[in-house]
Amino acid sequence: MCGIIGFTGQKAALPVLLEGLATLEYRGYDSAGVALWADGIQTVKAEGRLSRLVEKLKERSSLSLATCGIGHTRWATHGAPADRNAHPHATERLALVHNGIIENYAEIGAFLIERGYTFASETDTETAALLIDWFYGEYGDPQQAIFSALSMLRGSYAFGVIFREYPERIYAVRKDSPLIVAATAEGGILASDVPAVLAHSKEYYRPEEEILSVLEPGRVRFYTRDGAEIDQKTERVDWDVTQAQKGGWPHFMLKEIHEEPEALRRTVGHYLKDGLPYFGVPALDSPFPVRFHAVHIVACGTAMHAGLIGRHVIEKWARLPVSVEVASEFRYRDPILCKNDLVILLSQSGETADTLAALRHAKAKGIYTLAIVNVVGSSVAREADSVLYTPAGPEIAVASTKAYSVQCAVLYLLALRLALLRGQIGEEEGKQLCTDLYTTVPEAVREVLSESDRIRDCARELITAEHLFYIGRDVDHALCTEGSLKLKEISYIHSEAYAAGELKHGTISLIEEGTPVIALMTASHVAEKTLTGIREVRSRGAQVILITTEAIAQGLEIPCDKQILLPEIAEKFAPFPAVCVLQLLAYHVAALKGADVDKPRNLAKSVTVE
Ligand code: G6P
Repeated sequence: MCGIIGFTGQKAALPVLLEGLATLEYRGYDSAGVALWADGIQTVKAEGRLSRLVEKLKERSSLSLATCGIGHTRWATHGAPADRNAHPHATERLALVHNGIIENYAEIGAFLIERGYTFASETDTETAALLIDWFYGEYGDPQQAIFSALSMLRGSYAFGVIFREYPERIYAVRKDSPLIVAATAEGGILASDVPAVLAHSKEYYRPEEEILSVLEPGRVRFYTRDGAEIDQKTERVDWDVTQAQKGGWPHFMLKEIHEEPEALRRTVGHYLKDGLPYFGVPALDSPFPVRFHAVHIVACGTAMHAGLIGRHVIEKWARLPVSVEVASEFRYRDPILCKNDLVILLSQSGETADTLAALRHAKAKGIYTLAIVNVVGSSVAREADSVLYTPAGPEIAVASTKAYSVQCAVLYLLALRLALLRGQIGEEEGKQLCTDLYTTVPEAVREVLSESDRIRDCARELITAEHLFYIGRDVDHALCTEGSLKLKEISYIHSEAYAAGELKHGTISLIEEGTPVIALMTASHVAEKTLTGIREVRSRGAQVILITTEAIAQGLEIPCDKQILLPEIAEKFAPFPAVCVLQLLAYHVAALKGADVDKPRNLAKSVTVE
């Protein structure tokens, strides 16, 4: 999703902007642009990858001396990916970059047309730029112009604005979109995300909503709507720039899959006290959780799939009913929420617009909300009643991997906590499960990683496939949904996850000679049932890749073409190594196909629009 960057300082701004945009590439984009103050405002934009913008900039050597500018990577929403729609959007007096959506752009457009404005693009953003321009013409003051425009705009935004008459200043403001601001001796910097400022500062601000940041070389000031200067809290990252770099790996995705054992251990260790789960959240640690009668897990994409694993384990261990729902559906359905319910929001970025909206919906109904989030200080984390961070470190690849695994780990711990409080599991058993989660699980995932080459051999069989199916039952079906999503996201092969028992109700008509089917069997209580599904597809010509455990494989005669055996581990923890196999399989298929693994087409890492 769109990324914004800005720099004003004592040195050339363009390299800082380009480096920042490169760091934001992972968010997903289809065009890019910069505007720099060089004897007036100069704007250069290009459809496509950043390299095209860099090419165009070679013809504009005068810009290399500029010390103040803004930049943008655009993920098209209003108007096709094209130079004219790329940001920054500029007038004679100002240039603006935007992440978010202006919902009432048509209304604002009409207001502007009446005042003689015409449009050069089809974007919602241009109306914001022109509206600020209009008020600037009226008041001659950037601050007043921006706040006046904000009072008319509906939607979400993080804006960066430069004015022709203020060559060293950048104005920035946000609502429902992320914005990071930092000031160093070299200059002031703004960006959509922490990795883009990390090369300059580990300390930064996350300005509150509708607080205007004014950046100048070496300092940043913050203003409220009524012009009062206020302070904002600083935050610090505890990881450094190398963690957000590839470090010799061919892709971020592969690097991040390989970080899973460590991320799991760190996450579980973080939430253990005296060998049992402890969250430091009164609603979860005191005996009061007994009051929760039902749990609703709400999330998008991969995080929602982690929620499916959460449902499995919370229902099994704590015997509490759990519903899992995609956030974009949740609030519009007007879900039935009761006062003793718990709503859990899962999100890697903590900025997903639909998840944030679902959180606000639950809060407005007076329901207790708990966020499980990877990015410290993000919007979901800040607004939820309580937050449990997943210390996975930065996740850069669009396709989420380690964030999923650690979300599952936190959900396991939560399930255990609830089970202990509800008397479903005793302390001794609880301690043993925690020890396994802390030691055996990361080890099992590490073992899978050492089998990466064998998994690549299986992947080779799939690269020419046009369609394939993942089948499994119960928790295996939940894992299949994630395996299938990973594959289609990055390899562009159509795939579907089916509950093995549901195949015969329709999908089996699509199975023909050679159709690849990935069958997952880690749950022994349904293994024989899944076996029936495997026999059904195999007898219709399917090429079956089986992922199972030795214990299950020994007990049953399972027909298949290829087999991947999971490391020995208690069945209840099999989802962790199993998903690692599915992630590696998807990765290798995409890498063998030569796909842009880390930046798949049309996808964005952080979806900050509804
Ligand atoms: C996008 C990403 C997915 C991610 C989903 C939810 O669709 O491409 O990888 O799972 O958003 O993101 P979140 O940050 O809320 O976990």
